[in-house]
Amino acid sequence: MNLSPEATGGVIVSKMKVRKAVIPAAGMGTRFLPATKAIPKEMIPIVDIPMIQLIVEEAVKSGIEDVILITARHKESIENHFDFNVELETSLDEKNKKDLADLSRSIGQMCNLISIRQKNPMGLGHAVLCAAPAVGDEPFAVLLGDDLIDSKVPCTRQLIDVFEKEHASVVGVMEVPKAEVNKYGIIGGKSVGPRLTEVTSLVEKPSPAAAPSQFAIPGRYILSASIFEFLRKTKPGKGGEIQLTDALQMLAQTEKLLAYEFEGTRYDSGDRLGYIDATLAYALKRKDLAEGVREIMKKHLRS
Ligand code: G1P
Repeated sequence: MNLSPEATGGVIVSKMKVRKAVIPAAGMGTRFLPATKAIPKEMIPIVDIPMIQLIVEEAVKSGIEDVILITARHKESIENHFDFNVELETSLDEKNKKDLADLSRSIGQMCNLISIRQKNPMGLGHAVLCAAPAVGDEPFAVLLGDDLIDSKVPCTRQLIDVFEKEHASVVGVMEVPKAEVNKYGIIGGKSVGPRLTEVTSLVEKPSPAAAPSQFAIPGRYILSASIFEFLRKTKPGKGGEIQLTDALQMLAQTEKLLAYEFEGTRYDSGDRLGYIDATLAYALKRKDLAEGVREIMKKHLRS
C-alpha cells in the first residue's frame, strides 16, 4: 500500500494523496421550503447551475477523482444529473445543438460518483461516517453543499496544499462577527504561520461568550481517515445530532489538526438572503449576463 507514514506526536499521519471527497447531501432542506418539497435543495440552481454541481466542480478542480455523495430517499435527481441523459443528448445531436449536447455529456463525465444512503438523519458527523466503507484508509475532503466559496484557487485545493505540506488534517476557516459564532463550528488554538492555526479546541455553535475565537468552519475539511474512529465514539451533541465538530475535537487531542484561513468569498446559499447574494454575484461574473443583470439591479434600486 502507498503508505508512507510520518510520526507526529506518536501518531501516524498518512502522506497519501487526497483523491476522494465526501459531499453530504441527505438533509431535508427545511430552510428552503417550499422549494425543497419535491426537489432536493442541492438541485436548486445558482443562475442555471445546480448548487451541487458547483460543489462537485470545486472538488474536481482541486484534483478529486471520486466523489462520495451521502444521499437519502427522494434524491435520485442528483445521481441522474451526474449521469448521461441519452434521450436529451441524442435529441440535441439531431438538432445540431452540439454545444448543449457536449455540456450535458461533460457533467456525466465530471467524476466517479459513489452514492451512499444515510438512512436516518442523525447529523453531519453520522453522514460523514456513512462514507467510511468508500473512503477506506485514505485522507479525504469534505465539502458542505450550503457553503459556496468563490476563489481563484479552489478552497479545497488551498486546503489540500496545506495537508500535503504539513501532513495533518486541516479545516478551512473564516473570521465571523461575534454575534454569528452560534451558526458555526468554531476553532480555538495558536497561530503557527501565516493564515495557519494549530487547533486545540472546537465547539459546535457556541454562544458568543463561550466561543474560543471568531474563526468559523464554513464547510471545508481535509481529514485523515482516523476521524472515523472518533466519529464512532461521538455521542449526540448539539441538537441531539452526531456532530463532526465533536469528533474533530477528539482528533485534535491525538493528532495535529490545523485551521487555514482560506482566500475567497463564501456565500451561505442555504439562507434566503445568502442565496440571493450568491445568485447576483455568480450572474455578475458571467459575460453573457452581467450587463443585463446590472440593468435589472438599477431598475429595482430606482423603484
Ligand atoms: C454545519 C456544521 C458546522 C459548520 C457549518 C458550515 O452546520 O455542523 O460546524 O460550521 O455546517 O456551514 P449546519 O449549518 O449544517 O447546521
